[in-house]
Amino acid sequence: MGVEICVEGLTKSFGHQVIWQDVSLTLPAGEVSVMLGPSGTGKSVFLKTLVGLLKPDRGSITIQGRDITRLRERDLYEVRKLFGVLFQDGALFGSMNLYDNIAFPLREHTRKSESEIRRIVLEKMDMVGLLGAEGKLPGEISGGMRKRAGLARALVLDPEIILFDEPDSGLDPVRVAYLNQLIVDLNAQIDATFLIVTHDIASARQVPDNIGLLFRRELVMFGPREKLLASDEPVVRQFLNGRMQGPIGMAEEKDAAQVEQELAQIDEDGPAGAPAPRLLPGPGITRPPRWEAIARREAELHGAEVTSP
Ligand SMILES: Nc1ncnc2c1ncn2[C@@H]1O[C@H](COP(=O)(O)OP(=O)(O)OP(=O)(O)O)[C@@H](O)[C@H]1O
Ligand SMILES: [Mg+2]
Repeated sequence: MGVEICVEGLTKSFGHQVIWQDVSLTLPAGEVSVMLGPSGTGKSVFLKTLVGLLKPDRGSITIQGRDITRLRERDLYEVRKLFGVLFQDGALFGSMNLYDNIAFPLREHTRKSESEIRRIVLEKMDMVGLLGAEGKLPGEISGGMRKRAGLARALVLDPEIILFDEPDSGLDPVRVAYLNQLIVDLNAQIDATFLIVTHDIASARQVPDNIGLLFRRELVMFGPREKLLASDEPVVRQFLNGRMQGPIGMAEEKDAAQVEQELAQIDEDGPAGAPAPRLLPGPGITRPPRWEAIARREAELHGAEVTSP
């Protein structure tokens, strides 16, 4: 069913540099959430903090009733088994072929036999379309293949929580479309809790149940997809529309006067853009019961919008 992750008042800094502060959100069990934010706002740091690779300064991360920021290293090691993580750079071992890379967590964390390991590795490689590339080294394959190998490795332990750091960067649009479908199908099949960091707005609009946005050291918003898409909060609108006009600048944050001027200029293109249709699990994949609840939630929100003045 996946597990819920409850983050409260989380703050992280490196030296004097505050990365983000007072971040509170709940990743609902079994749902797909997306985290957006300009480059450098600490999205990767957030994922690494969730798995316990980085320690926050303040706040808590509660999983299955335990605050993982307070666990001893040995207990943390156990909790990490709940996670599958696809790091931003794939983080494959350069000297190991894809088969051994993907088998690594199984050999490290389980006592499965080599034949059992083989079955799982080949199943996951098939799932991400890498069958036949078992003997290749990471340096011999394309960036897209490395991403998919990282994804296969994130899946081998049947994780309850899967964190993806930009699974779609460096992929061509067709592969991104396939990857999105793969994510939605996977979520329907294994029903784990997903958190995806992406810069791809089209994906963010159609894949998740929930969207969050980090900006200026704060979590600007986190909530149901439809709510964020309907939001008229300037940062959310700018990001979900991929516009230059708005509070987010190229190198540094813009000053308030410029933002004001730009916001006055832009045409009303609706809140955060037209509602996007949700990507559904492919044919033959049974939808878990929560899909009914989500459909109801969307209909309610939609209804509320229609009736509001
Ligand atoms: N281990 C570290 N020590 C010191 N500073 C760090 C460390 N890791 C990250 N940072 C800093 O934290 C900030 C956020 O980095 P992070 O990689 O999380 O950004 P991001 O939102 O993932 O960006 P991108 O979209 O480009 O991947 C950056 O200023 C970075 O330099
Ligand atoms: Mg990053």
